Amino acid sequence: MRYLDVDGFPRLGRVGLGTWQFGSRQWGYGDAYAAVTARALVGRALELGVTLFDTAEVYGGGRSEQILGQALGADAARVVVATKFAPVFPLAKVVKKHANASRARLGIDRIGLYQAHFPNPLFGMDTTMQGLAELRDEKVVDEVGVSNYDLARWRRAEHALGSRVLSNQVEFSLVRPDALETLVPWAEAHGRVVIAYGPLAQGLLGCRYDAYNPPSGFRSRSRDFRAGNLRRVQPLLELVQEIAAAHHATPAQIALAWTLHSGPVVAIPGASSVEQLEQNVAAADIALADDEYTALTAQARRPARKPRRFGRRLRAHEAAGA
Ligand SMILES: NC(=O)c1ccc[n+]([C@@H]2O[C@H](COP(=O)([O-])OP(=O)(O)OC[C@H]3O[C@@H](n4cnc5c(N)ncnc54)[C@H](OP(=O)(O)O)[C@@H]3O)[C@@H](O)[C@H]2O)c1
Repeated sequence: MRYLDVDGFPRLGRVGLGTWQFGSRQWGYGDAYAAVTARALVGRALELGVTLFDTAEVYGGGRSEQILGQALGADAARVVVATKFAPVFPLAKVVKKHANASRARLGIDRIGLYQAHFPNPLFGMDTTMQGLAELRDEKVVDEVGVSNYDLARWRRAEHALGSRVLSNQVEFSLVRPDALETLVPWAEAHGRVVIAYGPLAQGLLGCRYDAYNPPSGFRSRSRDFRAGNLRRVQPLLELVQEIAAAHHATPAQIALAWTLHSGPVVAIPGASSVEQLEQNVAAADIALADDEYTALTAQARRPARKPRRFGRRLRAHEAAGA
């Protein structure tokens, strides 16, 4: 495992473990996953040197936090447990209440990284950040993070907090590469961290799904896994597979290696099996050649979607002889 050394926050494993899947019905993994596999994943992750475990109060209505806390047990003290609160009504005292509820579910005294799950444009940031600053001063929280923030908001959050907001957890993968444009360069320049969620595009970058073999749970209804999108990303998936073959690696590992190559990024893939977790952790040690990274980035940056409506209108226009 390779580590990212952040000032005052040393040895952050480049690959962490995402636990939305724990106790959540949305993924369709069933009860045995929550009762057995989730614990096995945490145990194996600890053995492999994983130091970042990501959860949220909303995952499985709190079950993810409970399962993670039970599986970590006393080991929680030697890793970074990152959780998130939903800032629906983010007054300082409400934020603190949420933190205490998360601590109780996780069975821990201190939250390693406490993140605002998404921005709430209805409220200014001051009250949220005040609550987070108090939690940090009271040593309930080690570091403050945000999630799904653009760069302007991230910077405003720092201003409101009066100190660094260590990380911004955003969707970042070969399928959603936007963080490359501003967030990653800014994090690099200022000693911050981008935490990549969905680094495998919810399994799409594992290259094993197609229109006849859809994934489980909510993903079967996701537009990412529909035939049209699968066709669109086909050149990307082929390139990922080609580079994977050259490295004797899996496509998922190449997808993860790409996110890590781009700067101070930590990826937190979820996993449906221990074997996947092992592959994901091993991906931290894959070094892409510059030409491989460039080719993947070029494919990732291809326009997201064909302008279908415009195309249709244009064709109608053309048919009308305009
Ligand atoms: N901050 C936010 O708003 C936010 C939003 C979403 C997620 N998150 C966090 O980010 C974490 C990761 O995101 P995610 O779980 O949505 O997506 P992801 O990590 O891109 O995809 C996870 C899924 O990919 C498949 N997979 C994992 N490893 C694989 C491998 N080596 N080979 C092939 N397939 C593999 C598994 O599904 P199958 O085996 O079933 O295909 C797994 O459940 C979450 O668990 C959560 O902690 C945060």
